Amino acid sequence: MGIHWTVYPNHHEASLAVADTISAVLIEKTACVLGLATGSTPLEVYAELARRHREEALDFGKATTVNLDEYIGLPPGHPQSYVHYMHEHLFRHINIDRDRTHLPNVHAADLSESANDFERLVESTGGVDLQLLGIGTNGHIGFNEPGAEEDSVTRVVDLAPGTIHSNSRFFESESDVPRRAITMGIATILRAQKIVLLATGDSKAEAVAEAINGPISRDNPASFLQTHANVHFVLDSAAAVGLAN
Ligand code: GLP
Repeated sequence: MGIHWTVYPNHHEASLAVADTISAVLIEKTACVLGLATGSTPLEVYAELARRHREEALDFGKATTVNLDEYIGLPPGHPQSYVHYMHEHLFRHINIDRDRTHLPNVHAADLSESANDFERLVESTGGVDLQLLGIGTNGHIGFNEPGAEEDSVTRVVDLAPGTIHSNSRFFESESDVPRRAITMGIATILRAQKIVLLATGDSKAEAVAEAINGPISRDNPASFLQTHANVHFVLDSAAAVGLAN
């Protein structure tokens, strides 16, 4: 199998390529299920999808979305919550039915039960047609940090110290970054029909090279993607420096 990858000259071109893939799924199957990611990397993808909706009538009217993960511990409506991010950067700009947009509920009394509910919800959609991923500098996908098991499902996880540090750029200080999250598991992600991972910038180069060419290992959770039949890494030249041409 192995991971298929394409290198684009820059972040902008790579983002347009991912927007093309998502648009193609929406056009082929209007009632598709899209698995979505947050972080800084996909921002331009969402901006481009919003533009295509506005200017080219790209239709989200029958689509369903499920997000990879959500922080635990932020008050509802917090600007750094992923639910806020999704509304701000995508949902409010497109014609999606809000009842068909799903993120893990981190405000439930029983968070483990809430994680189980989300796993069942993802299954009940009939399956994710296209899962968009980013990657952490330590190889995390969603919030599956190093050590995550291949058969893991949606659950409560602790964030790695490096992830807390990386994500502190979105908060006033590192101590404000949540320590826990609910994330889809590796097995949840691998059930998607097709997976597209977008990685740009030199900080991702090592994790990308290990994910593609390294051993399949819990040390780099993205390496589990090697076991999937339909994975495409969309890279810019900086993120691809560790790969042979
Ligand atoms: C975050 C998210 C991931 C994301 C990754 C990279 O913490 N949980 O889904 O892919 O880290 O983020 P960025 O795109 O900002 O580099």
